Order: sequence, then structure tokens, then C-alpha cells
Amino acid sequence: MDPLRTSHSGPRKKRPRQTGASVSSTPHDIRFRDLVLFILEKKMGTTRRSFLMELARRKGFRVENELSDSVTHIVAENNSGSDVLEWLQVQNIKASSQLELLDISWLIECMRAGRPVETTGKHQLVSVRRADSAHSNPDPQRIPAHAVRKISQYACQRRTTLDNHNHVFTDAFEVLAENYEFRENEGCYLIFMRAASVLKSLPFTISSMKDIEGIPCLGDKVKCIIEEIIEDGESSEVKAVLNDERYKSFKLFTSVFGVGLKTSERWFRMGFRSLSKIRSDKSLKFTHMQKAGFLYYEDLVSCVTRAEAEAVSLLVKEAVWAFLPDAFVTMTGGFRRGKKIGHDVDFLITSPEATEEEEQQLLHKVTNLWQKKGLLLYCDLVESTFEKLKIPSRKVDALDHFQKCFLILKLDHQRVDSDKASQQDGKTWKAIRVDLVMCPYERRAFALLGWTGSPQFERDLRRFATHERKMVLDNHALYDKTKRIFLKAESEEEIFAHLGLDYIEPWERNA
Ligand code: CTP
Ligand code: MN
Ligand code: MN
Repeated sequence: MDPLRTSHSGPRKKRPRQTGASVSSTPHDIRFRDLVLFILEKKMGTTRRSFLMELARRKGFRVENELSDSVTHIVAENNSGSDVLEWLQVQNIKASSQLELLDISWLIECMRAGRPVETTGKHQLVSVRRADSAHSNPDPQRIPAHAVRKISQYACQRRTTLDNHNHVFTDAFEVLAENYEFRENEGCYLIFMRAASVLKSLPFTISSMKDIEGIPCLGDKVKCIIEEIIEDGESSEVKAVLNDERYKSFKLFTSVFGVGLKTSERWFRMGFRSLSKIRSDKSLKFTHMQKAGFLYYEDLVSCVTRAEAEAVSLLVKEAVWAFLPDAFVTMTGGFRRGKKIGHDVDFLITSPEATEEEEQQLLHKVTNLWQKKGLLLYCDLVESTFEKLKIPSRKVDALDHFQKCFLILKLDHQRVDSDKASQQDGKTWKAIRVDLVMCPYERRAFALLGWTGSPQFERDLRRFATHERKMVLDNHALYDKTKRIFLKAESEEEIFAHLGLDYIEPWERNA
């Protein structure tokens, strides 16, 4: 049966004519009963809307003329998430747990496929996540329950993957934040880090000032820069920073392993502007760390790839298991969050069976072994200062007390890619920064959470624990100040549960 001809055949004539924007009211067989579509006319126009409605119906989709409670998918064109939300609010829409707000690209893909295609982040105009806590929706009667869930000011209540739709803005904010860090202005540093962090969690690209309405952590200063970037494609302030002598010098100096703000400041004041001048200056004294930093500079500034990180992982496991066969070796840091490159490779080591002495000895034995094999290019081993009964630190950026070592290892190209070994002229290895942390087995969940990062995610977890839960969290423990007890945890999931937070997967912590 040709659906287009049925409106002229006998019995169908009696069907009441539908009202609304659709010109054609031809009945079509509904093939996909789970979906009820509504196409937004705003910015699309009547003609195109009617065309698309008819097309979708012909393909077997149920398309409503009017917005009603039964609608499950709202499709819009040239509208941002906040445009649609605003429109919905005006329509006084009742809460619906299934409502999806989608870009026209989703419908077009469905039309091509001849069936509903999965809705993914690129189609969704508003982040559609499982509701993490019912109380976070201020007014569920007026707005679709999940669609308008307020974005939290805390990174630990947002899901931030590496799929950043707002690089132009976040790159700019990170330059400004770094500049404030170099000037030891922590307040301004945090303002821009938080702004970058919240934009990284958005499922859409900001294209107008309307898009940022209702988003937290965006103060006037930040908004001005967003506006400038939307209008001119760049920010004059960022441009000025990138050309600033002090910023450029600090950026260069701190790229050397072992060089922090104090040393950079000193070198800058002494008039140094390049590393080669510093390297060859006979009057300067360098720490062991800085000497290693200069010696392996080229290798260390060229980032660690995932393949290299995996090769290091094998190296670490071989050495650790030679002494403690039951130990768990977990890659943490950026690589656990799914990053493809990193400035180092981080590992957490813990053993369920080891005695305290064996535990204390392990990093010494491992580094001694590498030393003998000629693989240890630099080693700074810090003994544990951990006290079991100490209440966690309140400082959001506090260092932890586990035994750890900051290393530079010699990684043979052959261990990464046997082809590459022969391509290299002369040098057959690469220097790689490696961090190893040893923790008592019962602390492993806290240590893992703390060492997975991102640093901004960790800061907000601690801030959230303190301000929203009257608890104190650090890399070792979680303390409930109201109940005056330590809360135990065997896994990261349990820590999130203690804090009353939805679990956020490691790859969603790239805040
Ligand atoms: N960390 C920590 N205590 C330290 C050093 C680091 O708790 N003394 C945590 C940081 O908060 C971070 C994680 O360990 O979340 C990894 O640190 P780092 O290697 O500096 O950062 P990454 O996120 O791994 O970034 P990159 O890929 O550049 O290494
Ligand atoms: Mn790291
Ligand atoms: Mn590290």
C-alpha cells in the first residue's frame, strides 16, 4: 500500500482532519512505537517542519503536531540546548523522564537509516545523564527532569570525558590560569581553572552568550572573555599573556624537571630568558633533580605515549612481582583517565599479604634492581610519613604521606616497538618520568581515587566533602566529622557512596 494515496481512499476519509502546522495529515503505519517525536518550529520554519514531519511519518515514525506528555524526542534545528530549554519552560512542560532534546542531525541520520538510530552525545542538545540525585532538580514540575538538571559547581558531580567541545575557550582559560599560577595569585588561578573545568563537561559547543546562561563557575571576568572569543575568535588578554616575557620565561623554565616557581623567579630576575644560557652558566648551582632535568630535557618534554606507558607498566610489574608476587600494580594518573599522552606514568602499588617491613622495603628493592640493570636515570625516594589515626588533611591540595618515588627510567625503544629500535640513529632508549606510590592495602581505594586525578577533580571532591557533607577526604582516608568516625572503603565506588555521590568513572574525571 502506498501510504501517500490512502487519504483519498474510501474509509480513511472519515478520519478527522488534524490541526496544527502539518499540512498533510496522511495516516501512515507506525513502525517504531517506542518513540514519539515532536519537531520544533522555532528557527526552522513551517514549510521545512511540515516536510520533515511528513518524511518521518512516511518512514514509520510517530510524529506529533503538538507537544504533549507522550512526546519522547524533541528535535530542533539551529537551536542550542538552552534555547530549547527556555522554549520548554515557556510551554510549562510537565516532567518526563524520557524526554530527549536532539539536534536535527539525529533525525536526518534516522531518515537515512530508515529506523531510529542511537542518540549519542553529538546529537544531544543537553547532557542526558541518569539523574544522580533527585534533590538536585529544583523544580521537576516545570522542566523535564533530567534535561534541565542544574550543572553542579563541583567537578565531582559532573561527567567530564576527554571529548572537549569547547577547546577554544578552555585553552584560553588555561593560559590565564597558568599565568596567575606563575604570579602566585591562587584566587584568580582557581577562577579560571574552574571555568575551564565546567566548560569541559558541556556536551555542546558554546556559540552564543545564551548558551552559558545558568552555568555555574562563570563570573563576569570569565564571561567577558567568552564574549570576546565568540565575537573576535580570540581574547586580547590571552594574546597579551602569550607574548609576556615573564609568562614565556616561566613556561620555559618550569618545563625542566625540578624547576619550580622559586627557581624560575630567580633566573628571570637574573635576566635569563633561554635554557641554553642557563645550562652553560658556570655560576649557577643546580639540584640533582634539575641536573637530571637538563640532561634528559628533550625526552622529558616530548610526552609519554600510551604505548610507552604500557611498556613501562610491564617493566614495573616485572620488578615488583620479583619481590612481592601478590602485589597489585595499577596505572593511575592521566592514563587511567584514558589520556593518550602524559607528562609521566603514575603507578599505585599495594599488597594484601606483605608485612609492614616487606611493604617498606619494596620500592627500595625495585629501584636497586633497576639501578643494577642501568635503567635508573634518576631516583628520589620519599619515606612514608603516614599515621593511621591522623584525621585527613583539610587542605585541598595537600600532599599525601605514602612512601613514593619520583623516577626517570631508561626505556628501551625495543620494549615499545621493535621496529622503532632500528630506525633510531644511535640512541636506542627514551628517558621517561615515572611515579610509584606504595600504600597499605586497606588504604588502596583512597590512594587510587587520589592518584587518578584530575587534580581539579580531586580538589572538588575534597571541597564537596568538606562543604556539603561535613567530611574530610584525602588520599588516605575519609572522616565523618558529625559521627566522628573514619569511613572504610574497599573500592572507589564505596567512597562515592559514602559521600552521597553518583559514581563517576575514571574516564569521566577529566575535569
Ligand atoms: N598527586 C597526588 N600527590 C602528589 C602528586 C600527584 O595526589 N604528590 C595526584 C594528583 O592530584 C593527580 C595524580 O596524582 O590527580 C596524578 O598526578 P600527575 O601525574 O601530576 O597528573 P596527571 O593527571 O597524571 O597528568 P599527566 O598526564 O600530565 O601526568
Ligand atoms: Mn601523570
Ligand atoms: Mn605524576
